[in-house]
Amino acid sequence: MAVERTLSIIKPDATRRNLTGKINAKFEDGGLRIVAQKRVQLSKAQAEAFYGVHRERGFFNDLVSFMISGPVVLQVLEGENAIARNREIMGATNPANAAEGTIRKEFAESIEANSVHGSDAPETAAQEIAFFFAGTEIVA
Ligand code: CMP
Repeated sequence: MAVERTLSIIKPDATRRNLTGKINAKFEDGGLRIVAQKRVQLSKAQAEAFYGVHRERGFFNDLVSFMISGPVVLQVLEGENAIARNREIMGATNPANAAEGTIRKEFAESIEANSVHGSDAPETAAQEIAFFFAGTEIVA
């Protein structure tokens, strides 16, 4: 297994409910380290560009509106097999299908307001990290 980095977003439903600490405890307890972090209000243009791959999907406009409905916490997680590990800790996209003990099972409100985002593959992790962070902002 290799040490990897992945992009994590704590979404507006979770910042609104003051859950950032509880969510990050799950990542840290699960063996991941937060090596970059910032709390921001995304612009519509940023959210549209970040989720550009979903532009043709029926949920795209609602997803963008949701992602700009409040602050998000952007972070880079590092660890062994971090991309897959992060996805295990988050649980399935739809909280109705998420396993016990996962972030989405415990905290997500719906498939849209699902509390966290995580990169799905090495290429997207590199792209998503570079979308939000300069190299100098990541401190291992
Ligand atoms: P995320 O991992 O951030 O990537 C795309 C997001 O689209 C996803 O999590 C969901 O929050 C959101 N989404 C909203 N509706 C759907 C849907 N029907 N299928 C998949 N993703 C959806």
